[in-house]
Amino acid sequence: MKITKICCIGAGYVGGPTMAVIAQKCPHIQVTVVDLNEERIKAWNDEDTNNIPIYEPGLDKIVAEARGRNLFFSTEVEKAIDEAQVIFISVNTPTKTYGKGKGMAADLKYIELCARQIAKIAKDNKIVVEKSTLPVRTAEAIKSILDNTGNGVQFQILSNPEFLAEGTAVTDLLNPDRILIGGDSTPEGKAAIDALVEVYSNWVDSDKILTTNVWSSELSKLTANAFLAQRISSINAMSELCEKTGADINEVAKAIGMDTRIGSKFLKASVGFGGSCFQKDILNLVYIAKSYGLHEVADYWEQVIIMNDHQKRRFSNKIVQTLYNTVADKKIAFLGWAFKKDTNDTRESAAIYVADDLINEQAKISVYDPKVSRVKMLNDLNYLETRSSEENIKAVTTFGNAYDACNGAHAVAVLTEWDEFVTYDWQKIYDSMQKPAFIFDGRNVLNSKELEKIGFVYLGIGS
Ligand code: NAD
Ligand code: UDX
Repeated sequence: MKITKICCIGAGYVGGPTMAVIAQKCPHIQVTVVDLNEERIKAWNDEDTNNIPIYEPGLDKIVAEARGRNLFFSTEVEKAIDEAQVIFISVNTPTKTYGKGKGMAADLKYIELCARQIAKIAKDNKIVVEKSTLPVRTAEAIKSILDNTGNGVQFQILSNPEFLAEGTAVTDLLNPDRILIGGDSTPEGKAAIDALVEVYSNWVDSDKILTTNVWSSELSKLTANAFLAQRISSINAMSELCEKTGADINEVAKAIGMDTRIGSKFLKASVGFGGSCFQKDILNLVYIAKSYGLHEVADYWEQVIIMNDHQKRRFSNKIVQTLYNTVADKKIAFLGWAFKKDTNDTRESAAIYVADDLINEQAKISVYDPKVSRVKMLNDLNYLETRSSEENIKAVTTFGNAYDACNGAHAVAVLTEWDEFVTYDWQKIYDSMQKPAFIFDGRNVLNSKELEKIGFVYLGIGS
């Protein structure tokens, strides 16, 4: 089957960029991205592509090129499902906040809604693609819903997890390490796999397109995220030992990373990993392992999260201890709120938890982030329900530039590794701060030697 019409349900951080790149690379395919969120779709359709709802370097240009040609954003979910041969499900699968598996399992209610809607609308055979990250064997549930509530048409379910990282989504999508497609080994399943392989072949080398059975594909996504997060917790665990022993985590990371069996990527010690994926996916993995009675497996992976929580708490504790065991009424300037540079996404950002701890100690937080709005920061804190929204409003001030945020501060804390932080006039910042002027570099990005020369007391991670 030659694919000419694709629909994607979910216009978020994955659906938006992924479909924009498919549309750019496959001008012969009509790609419609649908979402229930009218505001989000409106933003995707904003004439000025600077206003699209997701900040990713290079994405505005791709959207500008393809939108209106063969890329469409719409709230007409049913129409798009009806017209498409292939339907990607790219909705959110957050950690459950209620009932069985609360705080661990993935909440699949949005996935189920999509399956039911597809079943209701589809009047011809469809390929349904799991793009969202899902627990292994979810395709079985989707198939059961489709086959039992549909109009007698045939559905093929493929798993095609997305491996892009935020901040580098466009380059990751244009030049992926691999494309993974899981499907049935029946002739119909193979035909569906081939059809999707052909879409990606428009820009991805065939040796990078991997096909597997559905369960391997589903589980590979959770496994990849668990392995990546585990590296960060491993290096962060060593960072604490470095601080006690005089070893330097940057030197240790370099030394071990040169071993080709270990590799140098993803060994950057930090205030802790954030983002919408790692924690959610590992908790989900832990839940799955427990549900099969695999308690050792569950405990092993859970430790990655425990270590990450410890690293965030350790950072806020270090600030309090260093500032003479009290931060009450002291101004602590946060540089960065996003969970990593080059994104406006703040989900699970370490900054939120560090701020929450410090506000508990009655600190005044002043924040500058190049891409995150005050509203988002306050929403993040309110979501924790530690205190009233009025109290959060009082505790947090936000600034349009770093110099104002740091003016009069007792300490600066770097929470995100935005490039611009490195090139600031640090002498000017020093002159405007309370003395002694402390810097807590939660990303190990600043030049400690230069800062110490200016007069700062510099505290990085793991040295
Ligand atoms: P997101 O919250 O940014 O976007 C999901 C969108 O789906 C929202 O806009 C929501 O309104 C919409 N939606 C939910 N239910 C719907 C329905 N029934 N009909 C129409 N629209 C609906 O989430 P995201 O970050 O894009 O993640 C989506 C999935 O991709 C998740 O499973 C996630 O784990 C996975 N993933 C995310 C990343 C990442 O970097 N964010 C990377 C790889 C995989
Ligand atoms: C992750 C996976 O990398 C991606 O493949 C998957 O599709 C989605 O989840 P993302 O969360 O967007 O991507 O960003 P990533 O670059 O993985 O960073 C996650 C967190 O780990 C960030 O807070 C980042 O700052 C932190 N990190 C990353 C470190 O602390 N040290 C590192 O060495 C690398």
